[in-house]
Amino acid sequence: MQALSEVNLSTQLRNAMNDLAFDKLTPIQEKSYPVILSGEDVVGIAQTGTGKTFAYLLPILKELKFSNQVNPRVLVLVPTRELVVQIVEQVKLLTKYMSTRVLGVYGGTNIKTQAQEVGQGADIIIATPGRLYDLVLSRALQLKAISKLVIDEVDVMLDLGFRFQLKNIFELLPARRQNIMFSATMTNEVDLLIQDYFDAPTQISIAVSGTPLENIEQSCYSVVNFNTKTNLLAHLLHGTEEYEKVLVFIANKKSADVLFEFLENEFGSRVGIIHSNKTQNYRLRSIEDFENGTTRILVATDVIARGLDIEAISHVINFDVPQYPENYMHRIGRTGRAEQAGKTILFYTEKELTRKESIEALMELQIPMMDLPAEVEISAVLTAEERPHIKEKYGNHKLAQTSEPGTSFHEKKEKNKRTNLGGAYKREITSKYKKAQHKRGNKGGKKR
Ligand code: CDP
Ligand code: MG
Repeated sequence: MQALSEVNLSTQLRNAMNDLAFDKLTPIQEKSYPVILSGEDVVGIAQTGTGKTFAYLLPILKELKFSNQVNPRVLVLVPTRELVVQIVEQVKLLTKYMSTRVLGVYGGTNIKTQAQEVGQGADIIIATPGRLYDLVLSRALQLKAISKLVIDEVDVMLDLGFRFQLKNIFELLPARRQNIMFSATMTNEVDLLIQDYFDAPTQISIAVSGTPLENIEQSCYSVVNFNTKTNLLAHLLHGTEEYEKVLVFIANKKSADVLFEFLENEFGSRVGIIHSNKTQNYRLRSIEDFENGTTRILVATDVIARGLDIEAISHVINFDVPQYPENYMHRIGRTGRAEQAGKTILFYTEKELTRKESIEALMELQIPMMDLPAEVEISAVLTAEERPHIKEKYGNHKLAQTSEPGTSFHEKKEKNKRTNLGGAYKREITSKYKKAQHKRGNKGGKKR
């Protein structure tokens, strides 16, 4: 790692880094800095939590001259709203001694307010693609002055779903611009896309895509079904090991709700939940509560698998095996950040075994297996989608009407809920699973 004193930073940036008590650049920061300053297109690959955000922010901020023009000159695109909020905060920390105007725009918030803010002028816009495009269409925002485009988490951003939105945005950007892309994972498919979209970018990689961090201790349990997984989770969390700050990933919103209610019964108010059906205020509060320790356990879908830098998560528990092996890397990368130690545990059923094997193939290592503790009760009760498939009786219309989890659903006792997941709930969760599986190429779902 390069000492900060050896880096050709401005005094303002150096002072801001000093205030953060950072006296060294991380390897990806050190390597990216001169290349980004040179103006070349760049693709940077480095593991989770190794400082990719400052790797692009430092050289960009070093170059950015004071201006009071309305149209932004730097655009940073990210896949989720929470990531917008986080990166805005990081820009603010770094520009403490500069008069840089940074603005975050993202969906789920009032677009009129955001349009007004954009109208006041900004140097840097951090955005999710959908909202950015809406603001441009409504003429609240012009992109003609953008000279630097950053795409953070580029592999997921170039996946289906986002790709169309990005293409629309690319068409509105000046042709002469610097493209800067970062991620912890890269796929061959994305490589090809980068060749098509960008001008022979320089690749900077610290580790081959899919290299796991050594400071994250991994383990896994073979578990027969969903309800046994909940029993195991409760057993671990009640156990003697210090589960100080635990992030539990689960595949979809419905299962997240079920698991959340189960954990709330077990652990009371120190459990939080986040998924894309929650309001934006709720989502941000869930993160905040988890960050500041109000909650100890956070149940989450992959909506927060990417990019979020939450301090001192002790454990990441994968309640199920993600469909795409890269997502496992991102999920577990919420712990073990900035060289801290972290632990991760994966629960998998027989059905999920091949997915686990793909993850192991990507990492080129076997995840150590643990024996199911004898105290964990093995449940014979299957959930709706674990039971043999039953032909759907109703069409989509009916499904739409019953898909909102009403109060009666929430008021049910946990015991009933887990043994009686028939009817509307069953149809819904079955159809959700099907939908997710057909969305090839979209690792995290579109609604971000
Ligand atoms: O994007 P990536 O997953 O690589 O990591 P990040 O979100 O940029 O987080 C890196 C963490 O390391 C943050 O908590 C930073 O405050 C911290 N850090 C850094 O970025 N640069 C340093 N030179 C020292 C620490
Ligand atoms: Mg990042």
